Amino acid sequence: MSGDIAFEGIQLNRSNARIRAFPNATRPVYFDEETNVYVISSHEAAKKVLQDPGFSSDRTGNLNLIARLGNMDELPPLVSAMLALFTDGPTHDRLRCDVARRFTPKRVAAMQPRIGAVIDAALDGVDGLDEFDVIADLAHPITGGIISQILDIGVDSAAVVLGFARRIVAFMEPWATDQQLLDASEAARNCSLFLLPILGERRESPGEDLLSALLTMEIDGDRLLVEEVLTMVVLLVIAGHEAPTHFMANGVMALLENPAERRRLQENPYLYGAAVEEILRLHHPVSYLSRTATRDQVLAGQHVAAGSQVVVDLAAVNRDPARYQDPERFDMLRTDPGHLSFGTGVHYCVGRALGRLEAEETLRRLFGRFPDLTLADTDLTRRVSATFHALDRLPVHPKPPA
Ligand code: HEM
Repeated sequence: MSGDIAFEGIQLNRSNARIRAFPNATRPVYFDEETNVYVISSHEAAKKVLQDPGFSSDRTGNLNLIARLGNMDELPPLVSAMLALFTDGPTHDRLRCDVARRFTPKRVAAMQPRIGAVIDAALDGVDGLDEFDVIADLAHPITGGIISQILDIGVDSAAVVLGFARRIVAFMEPWATDQQLLDASEAARNCSLFLLPILGERRESPGEDLLSALLTMEIDGDRLLVEEVLTMVVLLVIAGHEAPTHFMANGVMALLENPAERRRLQENPYLYGAAVEEILRLHHPVSYLSRTATRDQVLAGQHVAAGSQVVVDLAAVNRDPARYQDPERFDMLRTDPGHLSFGTGVHYCVGRALGRLEAEETLRRLFGRFPDLTLADTDLTRRVSATFHALDRLPVHPKPPA
């Protein structure tokens, strides 16, 4: 059997194919004995799981994870606080509410000039090169630059925190090795130590930034605990960096692979917003969403017992033939748009307006400046991750080779 397969139009080694956390689904809901979870591949059932309080995001009851991380009391405060954030109810609402208000579409639209300036500066940095990496040279400086502005912590501090965040993110991998978990735990501890003095200074002299807002906001007369602010900052750095980075790279790749759609965009730049939605549907950076059933229930005819783990397989849900016509086709003008790539329900992505704008502006400005952008290497590898649908690197030539 040949080791090569066609993947999204490009010949890649078999080992580079989409790394799926769960096997391809054959039914809307089925129990996967190997991973011990119910896998959801129907759009309708996925919406129910994400919107129904009978399915919880709470990881603190995930005995497997707790057993692997050790006694909860001994975890670095940042880690236990992060686990607490993935709960439902007042703890989650308390942490989420003010942040969500900061990322409304209106407020994000007002950030457009600053976001555009960060993207243009990153593009200036690669202009004139024969080759650059979309991930390391473009997406990282762009997402890092935007986060540093939102928190007003300066580009250097943001780079340090991003370095920790890339290690902490191992907590989100269901099959992380013990070594990766230990490393993530150490990164969480060091990240807290690095951020604490910054938090202290900001509490003394708050500004207009999100960090100041988190430090000074009061909920029912109480300020957030330092652990809660730290958690929120690290979560925002991880969420505001990982998913948007992979999304930008997946988007560039999708357009490199669809020359006709790319031409259409170059002729009609107002369509970039629609392109972003179709890229989100087919090339979503987050692979799956996880919940725990809080009571016995029936889902698409399948009995799901209380305490069972349920995962929404976004690759399948966003291609559900019951929801989309010709689901595999990249069609930014489809008459049945929509996807669950930002989730839905109480955990609906807080940063969705920002994620959309960053990606739209990056693609528009990148292909506007380098209309002849081409892939520099077809030997690409997917990141070994069950959580993210991501490339390791994406080398491109800004101009056709002479
Ligand atoms: C294209 C980019 C992005 C994608 C695809 C994405 C995807 C997601 C998804 C799927 C969830 C829901 C998780 C669940 O239901 O279990 C989520 C939650 C979240 N996202 Fe995003 N995200 C993106 C960008 C961002 C950005 C830029 C930020 C912040 C600046 C952000 C902040 C968050 C936060 C704080 C949550 C947790 C919300 C909660 O639990 O209430 N995201 N994101």
